Amino acid sequence: MAQIGVFDSGIGGLSILNEALRQLPKNHYVYFADSANAPYGERSAEWIAQRSLKICQHLATIGCDAIVVACNTATAEAIRKIREALPNIPIIGVEPGIKPAAMQSQNGIVGVLATEATLSSDKFNALLATLPQHCRFVKQAGAGLVPLIEAGKTHTIETQQLLASHLKPIQEAGADTLVLGCTHYPFLNPLIETILGKQIKVIDTSEAVVRQLGRQIQEKALVDSKTPYQLLLKSSLDGKKLHNRVDQLINPSPVDHQIRSETLTL
Ligand code: DGL
Repeated sequence: MAQIGVFDSGIGGLSILNEALRQLPKNHYVYFADSANAPYGERSAEWIAQRSLKICQHLATIGCDAIVVACNTATAEAIRKIREALPNIPIIGVEPGIKPAAMQSQNGIVGVLATEATLSSDKFNALLATLPQHCRFVKQAGAGLVPLIEAGKTHTIETQQLLASHLKPIQEAGADTLVLGCTHYPFLNPLIETILGKQIKVIDTSEAVVRQLGRQIQEKALVDSKTPYQLLLKSSLDGKKLHNRVDQLINPSPVDHQIRSETLTL
């Protein structure tokens, strides 16, 4: 049994936690939502790196055997520093799935919706430079979407209108594939389908990220727990509110004895 830390600027990483509980249920989880500081996507690279490192150090201190940086923005700006600071713990990051998208696109036109910080990061641009020249990537920052998702407005007209305006250049370019480069965005899948239809292929890397986590904890020879998982929720804003969001967004919703929540100023 491993204790796995999962961290995001807010509730976006719950899309990864959901998949982790599906693939690797016999482990315990600590989820840290830095909702007091979300969104990260419009902050400086230095701020994101320092804050992400601080949170991962906290997760290591409370005994996490592995940490998932369930945030594309934090991965882009901080993962190297986190790995340097915590060399004995597997640190798994998330990156926009532009590689699988380039392989799956039929017409070679791929939309990438991510935060401004991710799109302008050296890490993302280095990854982009390794991909075949024949593919055209239409990059779009999803400004304003994360605060709406944090506020629970995943199905409102306001969110639909903002999302439609961000998707317009991607739609107009004729993309047949869309990369969701922010872990908050899978919660907008129903709206994305309303706006773009079913034809467009949506790439979200949660499954692959959790497969990688599984390989890493296996390598550490950690044995599965005999009891169902326990989930500790920590929020820098409001632990109770995070608990409510987990009940709404994690599928199937964890039963009460499995889950505890707290508000933590870090
Ligand atoms: N969920 C995050 C990501 O994957 C961060 C979004 C934000 O806080 O701006 O990029």
